[in-house]
Amino acid sequence: MTASATIRAGDVLGEATSPAVEPSPVARTRHISWALKAVLPVAAVLLNGLLLFVLVSLSLAAGERHVVITVATAGAFLVCAAVIMVFAVSVRRPMLELQDKIARVRLGDMDASVSFCGRNDEIGDLGCDFNDMVAQLKASREEIQRLHQTQMSRAEHFATLGELAAGLAHEIRNPLAGIAGVIEIVSRDLPPNSAARLVIKDAKEETLQINRILTELLEIARPKPPQFRVSDVCSTVEHAVMFARQQAITKRITVEFEIKDTIPPVEHDPNQINQVLLNLLLNAIQSMDKPGVIRVSLKHDDGAVFITVADEGKGIPPETLPNIFRPFFTTKGHGTGLGLSLARRIVDSHGGHIDVTSVVGKGTQFLVELPITRSADQGSVVSSTI
Ligand SMILES: Nc1ncnc2c1ncn2[C@@H]1O[C@H](COP(=O)(O)OP(=O)(O)OP(=O)(O)O)[C@@H](O)[C@H]1O
Ligand SMILES: [Mg+2]
Repeated sequence: MTASATIRAGDVLGEATSPAVEPSPVARTRHISWALKAVLPVAAVLLNGLLLFVLVSLSLAAGERHVVITVATAGAFLVCAAVIMVFAVSVRRPMLELQDKIARVRLGDMDASVSFCGRNDEIGDLGCDFNDMVAQLKASREEIQRLHQTQMSRAEHFATLGELAAGLAHEIRNPLAGIAGVIEIVSRDLPPNSAARLVIKDAKEETLQINRILTELLEIARPKPPQFRVSDVCSTVEHAVMFARQQAITKRITVEFEIKDTIPPVEHDPNQINQVLLNLLLNAIQSMDKPGVIRVSLKHDDGAVFITVADEGKGIPPETLPNIFRPFFTTKGHGTGLGLSLARRIVDSHGGHIDVTSVVGKGTQFLVELPITRSADQGSVVSSTI
C-alpha cells in the first residue's frame, strides 16, 4: 500500500482567495441571425412551389389563374410568418434568456436560473442542465468560502498560540538555566559512589530535553529569516550526511550519498538546510529497527535541486501521513513532534516544497525541492504561526 502527502506553498485555498478576475467579454465574430438561416430554406422551397404552381396553372383561364396564384402567394407568406413566429417563441426567447442568465452568472450572481426548465423538449433539458450547473457552482463556491474561513480562523488561532508558546518558552528558559546550574553544582559536591548521582544524571538529561523542546518551539514560533548565500549545496548535504553517519553506526545503518548531476551553486541558508536534512536523517535512523541503508541523493533539473532521503524503516501508515508535518505530532515516546514542522517551514521560506511517500513495512522517502535562485518576493516572508 502506498500513501503520499504533498505540501505545496500555493494550495487550492490560496487560489480561492486570489482577487476575483474581471470576466473578460467573449470575443464574438459578426454573425447572421439564426432566424434568417432557418427561414431562408423554407422561403426557397415555398418559392419553388409557387413557380411550379404558376407553370401548372398556365392551362387555366386568365381570371382563374390570378385567383389561384394570389391565394398560393398569400399561403406561402402565411407559412413563412408562422415558421418565424414559432421559432421566435420556442427558440429565440429561451436563447435570449439563457444568454442573459449566463451574463449574470459571469458577474457572480449564483441565484440566476432560467424559467424554461419545465419545458418538455430538448430546450427544456438545456434549461434544467443550466440550472443544475449553476446550483453546483454555487455549492462549490460556498464550500470553498467555508474552507477558507476555517483556514483563516485556524491560522489566527495558531498565531496567537505561537505567540503564547514563544512567550512561555522564553520565560521557562531562564529559570531552567538556573536549575541546570544548581544540578551541576550539586553533582560536583556529591561523593563518587553516591546513589544520588543516578538521579542527578536523569535530572540533567531531563533539563537538556526541556531545553531542546523550548529551543525548537522558539524557532518555530519566532522563526529567523534565512540568511541566503549562493553556495555549494553538495557540501551542505554532505555535512548533514557525515553527522547522520556517526548517529547510525551503533545501529549498523549505512548512509549512502549520491550526487546524480553536476549541481550548480544554490541560493540557500546552509545552516537551515542542514537542519532540515538532519531532521529527515534522524527520523530515518529512528524508523529503522534493523541494519539497513539510508540513501541520500542530489540531482538538479530545470531551476531547482532535488534532495531525496530514503530509508528502509517501518514506513508511515496512510492515516498518519497527513499529520506528520503538524507541530507536536509524534509517535515517539521522547519526540517533540516539531522536527518536520520546522523542516517544512524552512523549506517554505526557501520557496521550495517537501513531499513524502511511504510504504508501510518497506520505508519512507522524503523529497526536498529547492529553487536554485530565489524569486524576488521571497526571503523576507517568514510565517509566525505554529
Ligand atoms: N522516516 C520516517 N519513517 C517513519 N515515520 C516517520 C519518519 N519521519 C517522520 N515520521 C513520523 O512523523 C512523526 C513526526 O516527525 P517529527 O520529526 O516531526 O517529530 P519526531 O521525530 O516524533 O520528534 P522530534 O523530531 O522532535 O524528535 C514521527 O513521530 C513519526 O511518526
Ligand atoms: Mg524527528
